[in-house]
Amino acid sequence: MAETLLEIKDLYVNFYTYRGIVRAINGVSFTVEKGEFFGLVGETGCGKSVTASAVLNLIRNPGRIESGQVVFKGRDLLSLPADTFRSEIRGKEITMIMQHPVAALNPVMRVGEQIAEVFPGKGDKTAIVVEKLREVNIPEPEKIALSYPHQLSGGMAQRVMIAMMLAPKPSLLIADEPTTALDVSVQAQVLKLLKELVARHRSSVLLITHDMSVVAETCDRVGVMYAGDIVETGSVEEVIFNPLHPYTKGLMAAIPSEDKKKLEGIPGVVPELVSPPPGCRFHPRCPRLMDICSSVKPSFHEAGKAHRVACHLY
Ligand SMILES: Nc1ncnc2c1ncn2[C@@H]1O[C@H](COP(=O)(O)OP(=O)(O)OP(=O)(O)O)[C@@H](O)[C@H]1O
Ligand SMILES: [Mg+2]
Repeated sequence: MAETLLEIKDLYVNFYTYRGIVRAINGVSFTVEKGEFFGLVGETGCGKSVTASAVLNLIRNPGRIESGQVVFKGRDLLSLPADTFRSEIRGKEITMIMQHPVAALNPVMRVGEQIAEVFPGKGDKTAIVVEKLREVNIPEPEKIALSYPHQLSGGMAQRVMIAMMLAPKPSLLIADEPTTALDVSVQAQVLKLLKELVARHRSSVLLITHDMSVVAETCDRVGVMYAGDIVETGSVEEVIFNPLHPYTKGLMAAIPSEDKKKLEGIPGVVPELVSPPPGCRFHPRCPRLMDICSSVKPSFHEAGKAHRVACHLY
C-alpha cells in the first residue's frame, strides 16, 4: 500500500503585478507517495516552478499563496513558522536541484568544500567528499573536489548538485528541469543516475519537466498541468497509453517518434493568466469544445484506478 508523503490541496497562488493579478495556480491538488518519482509536466508558464516554490514556502512578493494546503508527513507546511521551515524542512527534509547547476553553486568556493559544508561537524572531510563524488560517477573525484564550479561541464555540475542535495538524506527531492540545459547525450545519463541514487536513498522525487518523453523514461506517476490547473493525473502507463484529456492527447502527439518526424504542436497559445479563460482554461484551444466548457470549470472524474481527469467529456 502506498503511503502519501506530500499532498497539495486546492492551492491558489496569485502574483500582483502592474499588469494586473496573474492567476498562476488555480486550485492545484496532487499527491506524491513515499519512494515514487512523480512527474509534473506541461508547457512553459503553466505553473510548474511556482508549484515547487509553494512547496518550499519560497513564494515572495509580488506573489501570494491565497489558499490551500501543502501537507508533508502530516504537517501543513504553509502554517509552519519561517524559522522552523528553515531549520527542519528546506535543505533537509526537502531539497531541490535546478536547471542551471553551475549558477546554483558558489562560484568562489571549491566544489569539495561546498559538499563538505553539507555535512555537520569540523575536521577533515576529504574522504566523505571523495566518496560522495564517486557515488555520482565522477571520474577523478580527488581532482574534481579541488575545482571551481566554472571548471565543470554542465553534466558534471549537475552530478555535484545531486550529490549535495541527496547528502542530507531528504524525504523529497524536487528536480526542476534538471536536464533541460544539458547536452542530449548527457541528459539520459544524469536521469539514470538520479533514478538509481533515489532508489538507494528511498527518497521521493517531484520531477518537473516540459518533456513527456522524460516522464515516460523516469516517472511512476504524472500530473499534467495546463495554465495553472492539473488536468489529468495517473500512472505513467495509464496517462501515456490512454490519455484522456484533450490537452494530454495534444502533448503526446507533440512527441516526435521514429515514424513521425514532424512535431505536431497544439494549435493556439497558452493564455495570459491576468485574464484567464473562464470555465476550463484549455477551452479556447480544445478540439473537443462544448458549450459548458467556457462557463464551468470541470471537476475531477475518476476515470479508472488512480487515473483522474478534469474534463467535461467524462
Ligand atoms: N515573480 C513573478 N511575477 C509575476 N508573475 C510570475 C512570477 N513568477 C511566475 N509568474 C507567472 O506565473 C506563471 C507560472 O510560472 P512558472 O514559472 O511556474 O511556469 P513554468 O511552468 O515553470 O514554466 P517554464 O517551463 O518556463 O519553467 C506564469 O504565467 C508566470 O508568468
Ligand atoms: Mg519553470
